[in-house]
Amino acid sequence: MPSVAVIGTQWGDEGKGKIVDVLTPSADVVARFQGGANAGHTVVAEGQQYILHLLPAGVLHPGKRAVIGNGVVVDPVALYEEIEGLRGRGIEIKDNLFISRRAHLILPYHRAIEQAREALRGERRIGTTGRGIGPAYSDKIDRLGIRFADLFDEPLLHDRLRTNLTEKNILLEQAYGQRGFQLDELFAWCLAWRDKLAAYLADTGQLLREAILKGENLLFEGAHGTMLDIDHGTYPYVTSSNITAGAISTGLGIPPSRINHVLGVAKAYTTRVGMGPFPTELCDAVGERMRTEGAEYGATTGRARRCGWFDVVMVRHAAWLSGCTSLGLTKLDVLDRYESIKICVGYAYRGKVFEHIPEELDILLQCQPQYEEMPGWQESTAGMTSYEQLPARARAYIEELSRRIELPVSIISTGSGREQTIPLRDPFASAP
Ligand code: IMP
Repeated sequence: MPSVAVIGTQWGDEGKGKIVDVLTPSADVVARFQGGANAGHTVVAEGQQYILHLLPAGVLHPGKRAVIGNGVVVDPVALYEEIEGLRGRGIEIKDNLFISRRAHLILPYHRAIEQAREALRGERRIGTTGRGIGPAYSDKIDRLGIRFADLFDEPLLHDRLRTNLTEKNILLEQAYGQRGFQLDELFAWCLAWRDKLAAYLADTGQLLREAILKGENLLFEGAHGTMLDIDHGTYPYVTSSNITAGAISTGLGIPPSRINHVLGVAKAYTTRVGMGPFPTELCDAVGERMRTEGAEYGATTGRARRCGWFDVVMVRHAAWLSGCTSLGLTKLDVLDRYESIKICVGYAYRGKVFEHIPEELDILLQCQPQYEEMPGWQESTAGMTSYEQLPARARAYIEELSRRIELPVSIISTGSGREQTIPLRDPFASAP
């Protein structure tokens, strides 16, 4: 009957997709609660690679229910393409997908505004994924958003689109010098996508409530990483949603007390896509090597990821914010060939050492990471499936991270395949 959440503790791309995929056999329902098609969850199953952007990883497992909660912003075109793409590979998505009728849509003007705004910012751009996420969440908060439920009252929808377009077209045409949108075309677009996706729309809050009351196992699939959280990340170089475990409750409509185990996922080193501070970034041959050996290229945009050493200050902070009860460590094998490995344990700035994340962007940009150095294991761990198999120095590295973050390690990933995993504790079994 427990529920388990999987949360990214760095800047996203921690390998959450694989961890969710490994845990899904124990779950009845897998639910996404925030973000949108800016996420890219890579799952390798039976030698096949799948990159999911909006669909919860649960869709790859027959018999599991997959939920897209009210906190997600849904681009209907991207979602439909994903469903069709999987269908083309023999994975049928029919009555196993449930999209909240309260979820907000990403409309074509959201993407257009975001792209024009990023271009105007030039050097100071956020480096977004260009999926319209920020403008869609802005409209939601500004009470201008269109939810799936709103597509069924056609006169009201027409009226709301007209009001929205009055503002959006002024912005696009006069501020950004772009083409605006036609009301009738946009209205027809909304109705067409409503009809294509109608079969999946549901009262997901009620579905989850019933699942909890029946004693089913729930898996909450976080997207992105804590340092991209709109409140707790490196603002403004963040995404536009809350990523920490608190968002599960608001993004799915379930009480916080029903989240039993929070598994914080961290890569054995750190990566970041897009702009913004990154204290342990390695802009040298070592970072280049991590990028090459870790295949660190974005699953959504294909951009090269920035790479650096593990940052304990950041992961400890993320673990606190989400109330993590265990740690999942991924891509351990990428560090297999290093002579020595560094762990950032503090940030030095003007004679002071911070052991927490300072609010000021400037401090994060200028601070010097304080490192503890450990000897590398220089042996292959790729594909290992038991803790005892790991070289002693790899175990020492894991235990040092666990000690400093003050969390037990529940799962270690040693490769992209489902089976390349060291399970240490079953989060479903250890949840109360
Ligand atoms: P947005 O989410 O497209 O608005 O982009 C805002 C920032 O978050 C950019 O730096 C993106 O690269 C980053 N970002 C968004 N989603 C992910 C993700 O799933 N992994 C890594 N970075 C992401």
